[in-house]
Amino acid sequence: MHEDVARVLISEDALRDRVAALAGEIEQAYEQSVTGITVVAILTGAVVFLSDLMRHLPYRMEVGYITVSSYTGPAVTSGGAKLGVISLPELRNRDVLIVDDILDSGGTLRVVQSVLRDRGPASLRTAVLLRKPGKAPAEVAVDFVGFDVEDVFVVGYGLDFDGYYRNLPYIAELKSERYGRSSDDA
Ligand code: XMP
Repeated sequence: MHEDVARVLISEDALRDRVAALAGEIEQAYEQSVTGITVVAILTGAVVFLSDLMRHLPYRMEVGYITVSSYTGPAVTSGGAKLGVISLPELRNRDVLIVDDILDSGGTLRVVQSVLRDRGPASLRTAVLLRKPGKAPAEVAVDFVGFDVEDVFVVGYGLDFDGYYRNLPYIAELKSERYGRSSDDA
């Protein structure tokens, strides 16, 4: 275990198994899709989840991404979200699946879902690896959830603190003494 980690919340094995099962749920949901799906990843946090998930999905698929700055402090979500780079294929009349790392306050997904809805997709669904239950407002709906996690600041498997720890292969809670400087990279 990394020296800055207080405890591992979700092991590498549990992540692998759940991501494979989640891909099965997604595959079923898109059984009727005629055009194939367009995955839109919210970077940088979703990068590891995206790469594991998409390799389980057998569809004809396009991939786009949006970068979002979503929190002002290193370990505190503000609920606000600012879009950065948007690199998307045509979404009109496509079945679109948003892939994000975590649903926390819901600020990020609220903005991204609204921007993508305006592009006229045939359907719009959202998959998140993690969700902190009870924090996001009900109107920020997600269709596929890997794990519900307690309300602590988590890192690893793509999620960062101050830009670091994304490469940890598990989801962990950071030691509290590591908190304190600022970052705005989702
Ligand atoms: P919101 O609050 O907009 O949060 O739903 C979404 C984005 O904020 C980041 N975030 C976290 N990052 N550990 C992290 O490493 C956390 O516990 C955490 N909570 C929110 C994340 O980038 C997410 O996409």
